Amino acid sequence: MQDRYARSRQLFEKAQKLVAGGVSSQIRRSEQPVPLFFAKAKHGSMQDVDGNQYVDYVQGMGPNLFGHSPDFLIEAVARAMRDGLIYTGQFERELQVAEMVQEAIPLKGTVRFASSGTEIDQLAIRLARGHTGRPKFVKFEGHYHGWADSVNYSVHPELHLAGAEQTPVPVPESAGMDPATGENLVVCPWNDLDALTLAFKRHKGQIAGVIMEPILINTNFIAPRKGYLEGVKELCARNGSLLIFDEVITGFRVALGGAQELTGVVPDLATYAKSLAGGFPIAMLLGRPDVMQTLGDGDVQHGGSFNSNVVSIEAAHASLKHIMTDGKRFYQDLNNQGNKLINGLRNAAAETESDLRVHGLGSVFSTSFTTRANIDDYREHALYCDENKYHRFRVAMLERGVRLSANGRWHLASTHTDQEIEQTVTAAKDALKSV
Ligand SMILES: Cc1ncc(COP(=O)(O)O)c(C=O)c1O
Repeated sequence: MQDRYARSRQLFEKAQKLVAGGVSSQIRRSEQPVPLFFAKAKHGSMQDVDGNQYVDYVQGMGPNLFGHSPDFLIEAVARAMRDGLIYTGQFERELQVAEMVQEAIPLKGTVRFASSGTEIDQLAIRLARGHTGRPKFVKFEGHYHGWADSVNYSVHPELHLAGAEQTPVPVPESAGMDPATGENLVVCPWNDLDALTLAFKRHKGQIAGVIMEPILINTNFIAPRKGYLEGVKELCARNGSLLIFDEVITGFRVALGGAQELTGVVPDLATYAKSLAGGFPIAMLLGRPDVMQTLGDGDVQHGGSFNSNVVSIEAAHASLKHIMTDGKRFYQDLNNQGNKLINGLRNAAAETESDLRVHGLGSVFSTSFTTRANIDDYREHALYCDENKYHRFRVAMLERGVRLSANGRWHLASTHTDQEIEQTVTAAKDALKSV
């Protein structure tokens, strides 16, 4: 039988001699049966070097809000690039983007731009420490805030290493991390106000900030319990700590105003990246003006050669302009399209008597294999979701022309068509039978 991935296999073999592990980001190695090499991508679909076509729900792990290579973005950026790429100086477009952000997001404040989510989360944490003069911060099990040493703990820890449920120990996600960083990190279970109250008691006067994904999307898709975010905000305020929402996924994806718009809770600081510029690399910190002043004064240092370059700012400008022309309509359409897919997948699961659980919003949702109706935190996900089965499903979908992410997260693009969604549901029915 002909190998449908023959050319990708050849190139991956070559890549292993040229690029460490054959990939430039670890997660790409998990693509089975082989990390694919791509020839082109447009809107909702991609083509690999063997000529296979895929409907793509990886979508750059989120940034491609309009799908691959949207013409309006490319044209805007190409025009702007003719007048310069990196000024290492200010330009007016940056201010226009900041004004659009002020209009779009409930947190009214000032901004700083950078290039990646990892980087901007580091700035938020440094600013929280610099502003409060305190050493520690809280992160939650199952939440991801980039791969830097200070925060790359307890994202998906093995449960036998993770400590007690209410007082987990920080588990590093990588070899080579500075062990000292874990000493100033307080790991808590999410969606549990008692555990956070206890953390504030045990580390009284020490906690600079609390960072979280306001809707947990890096582990399954877990919404905050009713009153939880309000409770965290209140605890932070009472203890003089800053609340940081990592909206790197949710920002400009789940709604124009991100998770803040959906939950009604406004943090002190918020970070953005993926969907801010439709696939161009950019990141942004938005914060309460009095807190951001510590950054503005230069007490907290922040640099970056690529910060606020012409390409990324122009892409953010064109992207926001596109969305904000009719913000409600854009997200309604995106969610409607995604909900068609969610319903189709749920029907496919029912028809094939599969334990596939589909959970989330139309714009971004998660699939896992579990018989549980609810998954409320990381440990429940680790205990009750069958990751191996998901990986078999992912391979079976790839064979049927649908590309899924390694962690079960699906990203809708505004250019995914009805036909692509129907094709996906048909593929899912068949793939579910096979797993
Ligand atoms: C919530 C969240 N924060 C931060 C990051 C890091 O962003 P980047 O990959 O751009 O460094 C990610 C990446 O997936 C993320 O999902």
